[in-house]
Amino acid sequence: MIIAIDGPAASGKGTLAKRLAAHYGLRHLDTGLIYRAVAHELTSKGMALGDEAAAVSAAQGLDPTTLDDPALKSHQVGTAASVVSAIPAVRAALVEFQRQYANQPPGAVLDGRDIGTVICPNADVKIFVVADAKVRARRRALEARARGEAADEAAILADILARDERDQNRTVAPLKPASDAYLLDNSHLDIEGGVRAAIDIVEAVRAGRREV
Ligand code: DC
Repeated sequence: MIIAIDGPAASGKGTLAKRLAAHYGLRHLDTGLIYRAVAHELTSKGMALGDEAAAVSAAQGLDPTTLDDPALKSHQVGTAASVVSAIPAVRAALVEFQRQYANQPPGAVLDGRDIGTVICPNADVKIFVVADAKVRARRRALEARARGEAADEAAILADILARDERDQNRTVAPLKPASDAYLLDNSHLDIEGGVRAAIDIVEAVRAGRREV
């Protein structure tokens, strides 16, 4: 089974994807990490994010074993990832890796922006997670503080809105729900509530029901 989870920055889709994968015994790929790894490779070498040739070469040379580097999780790297991910040749260089990951048995949960629309258009279940931008900024600030980082919630909100705008309006693989995706609004759900809602969607699809 392949499950595609898409949605905007800080929507909680990562946690949902991880929990769904554990629930169904599937592997999980957080595809944001691969764009973060490309961005981090550039910034750590002092290269400009707009250096297309360097970004493409970083994408082509992606080493999946580095994806668990905690440095990739920072807010700054996320913003930088949003910039490099708008480069069509960077996206093209990363398509095959994601599809191969998805297609290995027993299947996988992939979370990102274009999983249901571009990477796995034939996914068995597609969920598009949304949450109010202010709620997302609040959650991101709390996470950052829990990691011991300072967090300015207003700045995080401005950044999230700018990132949504860039991710939604880029020419290649923009952030948008697939026409057959189920919308899950988790603005007012806690983690357990979101997981239950996502499992309900998967079960409804598996049972052949259209309505959840
Ligand atoms: O989900 P995230 O915050 O880790 O993603 C970081 C950036 O990477 C996001 O702003 C846009 C980009 N991204 C993408 O373009 N396509 C994906 N499938 C995943 C992430």
